Amino acid sequence: MNLLGINLFYSILLFISPLTVYSYNVIPYNETEPGLEVYKVFSYRDETAVILLIKPINESCVEPRIDLRILHPNGTIDSAKVDYPIPEYNFCLGPNGFYWFDITRSLPKFLLVLYADIVSASYYVLVITRTGYVISNTPVAPISIINGSIYADGYLMSHTSEEYGFIFANYETETAVMWKYYNKPDDKGNISLINEGKHYLQNPFNYYFIFPALDGNFGIIIANSTDINIKPEPNKFINPSKFTSKVYVSFIKPVMNSVDGPYLIYQSTIPHFEVDFFCDTAFTGIGNMCILTFNRAEDKNTTEYMTVLFQTSGSVFDMRKLFVDKEIIGVNSLFQGGYLITTHDDQNKTIEGIILDDNGKYNGTWSYPPDLNVSNSFGTAAFRNGTLFLVTFENEMTWKVISTPLPKFFSDDYGYENPNIKSTYPLISSSIPLSITNINITYHLSVTISTNNVSIYQYNNNDDLPILRQSVSGDSLYFSYSSSDKKTINIKVLQSTFNQPNSNYYIVVNDNVVRDWTSNNPLIGVERNRWKFNTINIQDNFAEESIGRFSLTDEGTKSFEKLSLDSQRGFLSQLRIDLAKSIPVDINRLDYIKCCEYDNSKQPPRILLSLPIKSTTNPYERNVDHIIKDLDILIKNKEVTPISWFGTTNHLEASFGFQRYKNLLDDFKFHLIGIVIGIVILGFLYIYAKKKYPMGKNIVIFKFPLIILNFIMGIMFILNNGKNVPQLFIPSVIFCVIPIIINFIMGAIIMLQEIKKNRDFYGWFKNNVDMASLFTILSGTNIEMLNILSSQVAGIILFNAPISEETQFDIFWGSFIGLFIGDIPRFIIQVFYIKLVVNYDIIPFLTLSTSSIILANNIITKIYHAIVHLYSKKRKFVMILQTEKILCNSANENSSITVPQKIRKTVRHSM
Ligand SMILES: *[C@@H]1O[C@H](CO)[C@@H](O)[C@H](O)[C@H]1NC(C)=O
Ligand SMILES: *[C@@H]1O[C@H](CO)[C@@H](O)[C@H](O)[C@H]1NC(C)=O
Ligand SMILES: *[C@@H]1O[C@H](CO)[C@@H](O)[C@H](O)[C@H]1NC(C)=O
Ligand SMILES: *[C@@H]1O[C@H](CO)[C@@H](O)[C@H](O)[C@H]1NC(C)=O
Ligand SMILES: *[C@@H]1O[C@H](CO)[C@@H](O)[C@H](O)[C@H]1NC(C)=O
Ligand SMILES: *[C@@H]1O[C@H](CO)[C@@H](O)[C@H](O)[C@H]1NC(C)=O
Ligand SMILES: *[C@@H]1O[C@H](CO)[C@@H](O)[C@H](O)[C@H]1NC(C)=O
Ligand SMILES: *[C@@H]1O[C@H](CO)[C@@H](O)[C@H](O)[C@H]1NC(C)=O
Repeated sequence: MNLLGINLFYSILLFISPLTVYSYNVIPYNETEPGLEVYKVFSYRDETAVILLIKPINESCVEPRIDLRILHPNGTIDSAKVDYPIPEYNFCLGPNGFYWFDITRSLPKFLLVLYADIVSASYYVLVITRTGYVISNTPVAPISIINGSIYADGYLMSHTSEEYGFIFANYETETAVMWKYYNKPDDKGNISLINEGKHYLQNPFNYYFIFPALDGNFGIIIANSTDINIKPEPNKFINPSKFTSKVYVSFIKPVMNSVDGPYLIYQSTIPHFEVDFFCDTAFTGIGNMCILTFNRAEDKNTTEYMTVLFQTSGSVFDMRKLFVDKEIIGVNSLFQGGYLITTHDDQNKTIEGIILDDNGKYNGTWSYPPDLNVSNSFGTAAFRNGTLFLVTFENEMTWKVISTPLPKFFSDDYGYENPNIKSTYPLISSSIPLSITNINITYHLSVTISTNNVSIYQYNNNDDLPILRQSVSGDSLYFSYSSSDKKTINIKVLQSTFNQPNSNYYIVVNDNVVRDWTSNNPLIGVERNRWKFNTINIQDNFAEESIGRFSLTDEGTKSFEKLSLDSQRGFLSQLRIDLAKSIPVDINRLDYIKCCEYDNSKQPPRILLSLPIKSTTNPYERNVDHIIKDLDILIKNKEVTPISWFGTTNHLEASFGFQRYKNLLDDFKFHLIGIVIGIVILGFLYIYAKKKYPMGKNIVIFKFPLIILNFIMGIMFILNNGKNVPQLFIPSVIFCVIPIIINFIMGAIIMLQEIKKNRDFYGWFKNNVDMASLFTILSGTNIEMLNILSSQVAGIILFNAPISEETQFDIFWGSFIGLFIGDIPRFIIQVFYIKLVVNYDIIPFLTLSTSSIILANNIITKIYHAIVHLYSKKRKFVMILQTEKILCNSANENSSITVPQKIRKTVRHSM
């Protein structure tokens, strides 16, 4: 038989007694009161289960309370009650044979309780914890009034993926099914309506079935008939669609508010069937599976079952007849592949599981051992680790949790909760270097890249919301295959994405990022908090504060210009906040945004904004340089970065990026002008002094300010910049303070000795005590300051101190020591500073310039001294041979004060 273009297999399934021997684990629990029954069982990802118990009072009502039992992974069982005044009528049966109230799980750790309130004519959803604590209560929908009376058949269906919310559905009229989709509750239990829609039925109260599908969608199955219909009796358990001949599936896409389908998945050539269905979506393999249950309309005791496997595109892959002589009560796709069909035999009190593999083929049957004495009150659920469990009452007071491992059709899960994924880069829990530029995912099977997104989040362990760093879709250029077998996909990552040292990240892979290469069916993704890893902890170098510029787009410029001054200010301050979130960086690192220059290279000209970025001394924060680079990348690739997700930053021009706005000349303009003016003034002074007294060592006019400037800069450097590079701070303090002390001590000793030994100097000293003490203090900056006293600059008497040759020699050696304890280390520190910081400002710049001039001067002077020394020795030798008289004279020079200028000059042209 050829139907819908595919072959319909009739495979006879012979259920020989269980093929596989399963082992069981039994946990008993004693209740304190009789009469309870298992109503529903929910499993959670953390291997905790919640069991809802009810206590029937009569045929149609149960006691008005919600009793929970929590089964912990360690096997202990707690009990809890929901303490909330739910109106009592919610605990009686509704028109379709279910109680008015409903309860379902909400991943990761909540339960949702639906109840109706007649007074406000509305359904409400309570968000409760698994231990029954009520977090919120929200009205979700009006109660339907059909044919003049309340028709309370509403129910909740949550998605199997943690990424998505839940759907509320009920009959709005006899022939319209209404659904409302709510986002998943946040930590405070807030839920809000995302979208709603309707599906129309051919006949009043036709049966329909909603199941969670891939990608946050929900499948809805509706049957239409071609024949006459019979109105179902009121209060019937289910409302089968009579005389069905066609079964359709549609996929509700609640977030986009669209519907794919309807797709015809079954068509009968034999009319007069009534049909109901159980469906589920597979975690692996083909896609979706439904079991259609047919009852011949006139002969209800003959039930036929059929499995239909179909893809999300609606194309049917496989169809088989199932021969089961018991009632099928549910079908679940199993996390590690395959499907579980649960059957129940009311008479013999047995429960059996039939396992089909991914292709819908029979793989095995298991049943619980007969001595377990399964009652009619039971519930089943499966954990993702492959354990199935059954909760059932053994007698009035005692129930048991019986668990058993299920077969696995796919290899083990590696923590991604996605059996298709073999490995990834980065691995779960690994540490990665900063700014990696790719990630990849290796699947067990060949895949084709599809359209959905891979998103990278940064999170911290407190309550802050995770920050989305980059989100790229499968159809973008960021995706590629990295191996020819198409099992690995590679995703390019921006350098700005993993830019925070010692930070936590996780990657969410949406469903339908890839499709199975053979079947073209979308594959499930990786939910949040699974693929987690972190960046290594490294220190960032210091970078000086800086200014960057960025441009608004054409549209952004226009709409900005239209704003009032106040709103412009508002926009700029919001822009600053959003930029800080996009980078992300502490908002205090960004200064206020300045407006407005125009980029005239564009027609019409675009607004340029400038943003000063402040430096930080915290080495674990991004430095200014990196922030500028990151912002540039973020803006340039804004379509995949947070820049395009904020209303303000979305107006930034991608092609302009973020450009450093820094010009040494511009920034230090005034400093440099000041320095030049200073040098010119000194030059004039020098010329004047030279004219006035050519014999004086007028060079000190340059030297004195240079030494003072160097000294001041050295101190300012420590105060201002010293902490920028922590490892340089202590050395720079040491090599500032110690030379001062040593120089000062040497200066003082030299002065005292000179006073003691040199009478002429003493004479000068008596008249110039102030000057002498000032220069003794100044000698702390540089011992050569003492030489100024005898420099005779511009012939000023004050600087005419008759310092003896010997003392000058001492000063020379003192400055030689100073070279090693002060100048050289300071110079080295400056050079290291330059290497360790990224950009540079005026103080270190001047410090380095002055200290290098001083160092160079000092070294060159020393070398010249050495040359002079050698040369004069030679000459002396020659002179000794020539004349003893001259020798005598020069030997006497020590005591001569008035004549020595010429000779002294050759010795001390230094400084
Ligand atoms: C439950 O009660 C039975 C009989 O009253 C007792 O033998 C059994 O140990 C109890 N089990 C637990 C788990 O308390
Ligand atoms: C799955 O989890 C349950 C509950 O924690 C545990 O009892 C069971 O042994 C686990 N099964 C496997 C296969 O790990
Ligand atoms: C089992 O786990 C629950 C919840 O984590 C805890 O409260 C309880 O003390 C544990 N029981 C045992 C016996 O470890
Ligand atoms: C089923 O029948 C109803 C009523 O005739 C119609 O509105 C709906 O479109 C039909 N569904 C499909 C999938 O044909
Ligand atoms: C269906 O089965 C029930 C009991 O299982 C029996 O009483 C009834 O007669 C059967 N109906 C038909 C039409 O065979
Ligand atoms: C139910 O039990 C009876 C007798 O105990 C047996 O003959 C019958 O085959 C059983 N039915 C099923 C479906 O196992
Ligand atoms: C059931 O599945 C397992 C695992 O794939 C396989 O080894 C076994 O042969 C299958 N059994 C049957 C009867 O198909
Ligand atoms: C995934 O990316 C990493 C880093 O670039 C690379 O070393 C590795 O080989 C890639 N894996 C595959 C399977 O291509």
